[in-house]
Amino acid sequence: MTVQRINPSILSADFVNLQAELDAIASADLVHVDVMDNHFVPNLTMGPPIVERIQAVSPVPLDVHLMISDADRWAPGYAELGAFSVTFHAEAAADPVALARRLRQIGARAGIALKPGTDPEPYLELLPEFDQVLVMTVEPGFGGQSFMPQTMPKLRRFAEARARLGIDVWLQVDGGISVDTIGIAAEAGADTFVAGSAVYGGVPEERIAELRAAAAAH
Ligand code: DX5
Ligand code: ZN
Repeated sequence: MTVQRINPSILSADFVNLQAELDAIASADLVHVDVMDNHFVPNLTMGPPIVERIQAVSPVPLDVHLMISDADRWAPGYAELGAFSVTFHAEAAADPVALARRLRQIGARAGIALKPGTDPEPYLELLPEFDQVLVMTVEPGFGGQSFMPQTMPKLRRFAEARARLGIDVWLQVDGGISVDTIGIAAEAGADTFVAGSAVYGGVPEERIAELRAAAAAH
C-alpha cells in the first residue's frame, strides 16, 4: 500500500502562538511552511529567521514551500537551516535542475512546484532530479481557497511518469484539500497532502486523523 502523508500548513495557524500550534500537529508527518515574498505571489508571510525558529521547536520535520522569486539565490538557505524538504516554483528558478542538485547536496529533499496553469511537459522527463513534485490545486498565495479539480490530469501525468520511470518521487497536492477532496487527489496519484484551513479549522489532531482516513479510503 502507498504511504500517505498529511502535512498541515501553518499558514492557517495562529501566528502569535506558533509553538502551541506546532505542538498541536505532532501527529502529522511534516509541517508545511509557506514562504511568500509579496512578489512571486501577492502575499507576504515569513523569511529565514522565523523558519529557523520553527525548525528549532517543531515536533515534526519541515516541508518548506517557497512562493518567492529568485529561488536560485534563496532556496539553499532553507536547506542549510535544516528543512527536511525545500520546494520552489518552476518559474522562480533560472536553472531548476541545478538548484535541485544543490538542495540535495546540502541534505534536503528537493521539490518543484507547478501552478495550476504551468505545463507539466518539460518536467516529466526530469522527475529523477527531484524528490517531490507539488501540483498546486489552487493559485498560490492564500489559504482557504477552493480545490481546482481541473489540475487532476496534470497529477495523473506525473503519476504515469513516476510509474514508467520506476522512481519513488512523492506527488504532493496543496490547496483546498479537505475530507471531501483528498480522495480525488489520492485517486489521481497524490501521496502527500497539504491542508491548512481543514486542519486548523477544528481540533488539529482530530482533523489530521479524519484526513488520513479519507485519503486511505479513496
Ligand atoms: C497556498 C499555500 C497553501 C495553503 C493551503 O498558496 O501554498 O499551503 O496554506 O491552505 P488551504 O488548505 O486552506 O487551501
Ligand atoms: Zn503551500
